[in-house]
This record gives sequence, structure tokens and C-alpha cells, in this order.
Amino acid sequence: MQFDERQFRKFLSEQDISDLLDDIAAAINKDFGMNDKVLLVGVLKGAIVVTADLVRRLHSDVDVDFVRCTAHGKSLSGSGTISILRDISVDVRNRHVIIVEEIIDSGRTLKFLYDRIKSANPLSLKIATLLDKSSKRVVKIDADYVGKVVDDQFLIGYGLDLEERCRNLPEVYALKYPN
Ligand code: IMP
Ligand code: MG
Repeated sequence: MQFDERQFRKFLSEQDISDLLDDIAAAINKDFGMNDKVLLVGVLKGAIVVTADLVRRLHSDVDVDFVRCTAHGKSLSGSGTISILRDISVDVRNRHVIIVEEIIDSGRTLKFLYDRIKSANPLSLKIATLLDKSSKRVVKIDADYVGKVVDDQFLIGYGLDLEERCRNLPEVYALKYPN
């Protein structure tokens, strides 16, 4: 077992996740037609799973790319500067870009990415996230497509890692007793 089952409880089943993704995809498919050129930008590593599941639900002319960031001097409060470890390689100027996250916490990573992609002049720029810890936000940034707003708790599975493990769990689990 990759994690101690006594410490975690099941938070979202595969069906729950699928339902949330259906809702997100329906909203995106409403905003973008079959001929719109959409680019999904998944934020590595956590968003690989949600990006793969979301892209298969979209009806547009869609391309996929990935970006990887790193936070330097990250303290427990998550402060520090962010830089790019792996950049996207697609020209965004003729694309409607949707940044895809599995979860938004402080919003720092996303704000950094949003501003960076925006400065490259995409046709439009939106944010989709499966989960949103909206109460944890320290910078002003909101997602356009949100699966579910969640309380501040530690979650693993479906891309979310426990020290780089557990990303492969098909469900999401929540830590029962923090600390
Ligand atoms: P932010 O810049 O603070 O919004 O960082 C968000 C990133 O932190 C997410 O994309 C995840 O990779 C990671 N993260 C936030 N909350 C959790 C969690 O509960 N479990 C695992 N990773 C998390
Ligand atoms: Mg992430």
C-alpha cells in the first residue's frame, strides 16, 4: 500500500470525479465551439491525470501542452518565488488557452502562470480546476471552471501527491487528522 489507510478517508470516488469533469467539460463545450482552437495547458505534475481525462471530453479543435513550475525557498506558508522548469512549446497567439489544475491552493503558481501566458497574447485565457481550496487563496485569482470547492485539508490521489507518491490512485483521499 502506498499510504496508510487508517490516516485517510475516501473523499471523492471515481464516479464523483467523473461527474465533476462532466460538469467542467460541459461548461467549456458551451463556451468553445467545434471550430475554436483550444489549447489545454496542464500544470505538471499534478494535473496530468485531470488533463488527460478532461481533454477526452472536449469537442473543440484542441491541442495539449504542459508546463512545470518550481517554487524556490518555499516555506510552510508557501511563500517564495516561482520559476519555469519546463515551458510550453505551442504558439498561443491563435489559441484559446485553458490552464488546467487539479487543485488551487494559495493561487501563487496559477497567478504566475496566468500572467506569463497572458503576456504572450492568446485569443483568450481561462482557468479550469478540478478542486479549489478557495479559503486558502493569498493572491487574487479565480478559476473560470471549478469542479468543487473544498475545505482546507490535505488531499492525495488523482494526480495529488504524498511526497511524489499516490498520484496514480483513481480516487481522492483526505487526511483524517492533520499533524
Ligand atoms: P498554489 O500555488 O499554492 O495554489 O499551489 C497549488 C499546488 O499545490 C497544486 O497544484 C498542487 O500541486 C499542490 N497542492 C495544493 N494542495 C494540495 C493537497 O492537498 N495535496 C497535494 N498537493 C496539493
Ligand atoms: Mg498542481
